[in-house]
Amino acid sequence: MAFKNLLRGAAVAAFLASKVEAVDNGLAITPQMGWDNWNSFGCDVSETLLLQTAQLIVDYGLKDLGYHYVILDDCWSIGRNASHNNSLIANPEKFPNGMAAVADQLHALGLGFGMYSDAGKYTCGGYAGSLGYETVDANTFAEWGVDYLKYDNCFNMGQAGNQMISSARYEVMANALNATGRPILYSLCNWGEDYPWNWGSTIANSWRISGDVYDSWDQPDSRCPCDGPDAWNCGLPGFHCSVTNIMNKASFIVSKAQPGAWNDLDMLEVGNGAMTDAEYVAHFSMWAAAKSPLILGNDIRVVPAKDLAILSNAAVIAVNQDPSGSSAARRWMYSTDSTDAYGGSALQLWSGSLKSTTGGQYNDMVVLLINGANETMVMNATLADIFVDSGAAGTARQVKISWEARDLWANRMSEAEAQAIIDASSATGNATNGYNATMVGSGRYNATKTSYAQGLKNNDTLLLGNVTTTVGPSGTVTATVERHGAALFRLRALPTGVKKRDEL
Ligand code: GAL
Repeated sequence: MAFKNLLRGAAVAAFLASKVEAVDNGLAITPQMGWDNWNSFGCDVSETLLLQTAQLIVDYGLKDLGYHYVILDDCWSIGRNASHNNSLIANPEKFPNGMAAVADQLHALGLGFGMYSDAGKYTCGGYAGSLGYETVDANTFAEWGVDYLKYDNCFNMGQAGNQMISSARYEVMANALNATGRPILYSLCNWGEDYPWNWGSTIANSWRISGDVYDSWDQPDSRCPCDGPDAWNCGLPGFHCSVTNIMNKASFIVSKAQPGAWNDLDMLEVGNGAMTDAEYVAHFSMWAAAKSPLILGNDIRVVPAKDLAILSNAAVIAVNQDPSGSSAARRWMYSTDSTDAYGGSALQLWSGSLKSTTGGQYNDMVVLLINGANETMVMNATLADIFVDSGAAGTARQVKISWEARDLWANRMSEAEAQAIIDASSATGNATNGYNATMVGSGRYNATKTSYAQGLKNNDTLLLGNVTTTVGPSGTVTATVERHGAALFRLRALPTGVKKRDEL
């Protein structure tokens, strides 16, 4: 009997293990983090840009926070070498020392090297694509020391239109990467075409769910045609998709995210200048709670201090990197009379389960309130709505206990501290004290030393936010939220079963 149970236990463990590593390369067990040049530089890529940025990622403490991959996007090659296996040739003007040298230098800094190619004849920028050259290109990438591949969808020669055709095309590169024996994180970029959330998890670590993000909260753009209730079902993903457009698309497919396989909401726009501070806070909170990869998309050489402070919030990143890997879901959204210039007015509640930080029977819960109205709003979320997954209409046992509501933005680094970090970097040439920025701000989290999972287990206060209020049984989380802003809380169960004096 005991043996039988043991066997059953082993089978369950094996099942869980296989579930945890969807694509079976052991990577992206939590959403990948890094930087990609596309949003702020487009085709203007070079070795100098990558290495300067990499140094800043280290100096500004971003590497310590988990931003690991430095991803080179489109426009880096000059074609194929007919006398050497048809392998891709890096542009010698942009990369005078070659890609292997870039990889070496990134590795020496403790960072990973991300590469870009396209499952088509050409890349979106019109350079040589990898369709038909998967094996030779995967081998080249592995030889160079590449750790990550973003794989695009332009010029796919009509090999799209249903899930089988698209997944088969993307699987060729998955197999080629696996065959190299080098662990290479595989990031699909087919913009949600042919529902990659249905098949991406078996071959890749993440898949883009939309057309390209745009540095705007909710500006509609006819080049990103899909919006509204059917937005997820998008035959023409396009580009210039606002943050709220992508949020709406994500809301339908949150259940598809799991350890090793993530919905990719596209690169961050924080720091690119066109949104308000509140909008960038909401954008970052949303991407974190939805378990999107967190890929910086700004020019780090000129990052404003207030944006560095957003990107450095370890308590918010800890939600994204939570070991349970389950995405928050939208619980409600409704319109208000306060409409902005683009017609946006919606208030939204998202919530999702996190690993318990008390070690008790109740998981922590992330609560995200988003104010899309045109003015500051007092927003309320009932425990019944927050915990609706555990029981409809307030029947969840979590509704019957008390919670700490811990404000995850309360400990945002001050602008002065962020500026001091920028000023102390030798890479910006600003250093006055001769010390490295990672020495500034002693209270900063270092995920390269202690993983977020371990930090949460240790109850590290840098990851838990500030207790703002306690919420009693059947209570309500309340927050005053700026126009186009967000409030983000970690709910943490208060001990139960302690009888009050007068009950004894
Ligand atoms: C798009 C992709 C962008 C960027 C660009 C490069 O298809 O979605 O993120 O990689 O191509 O040309």
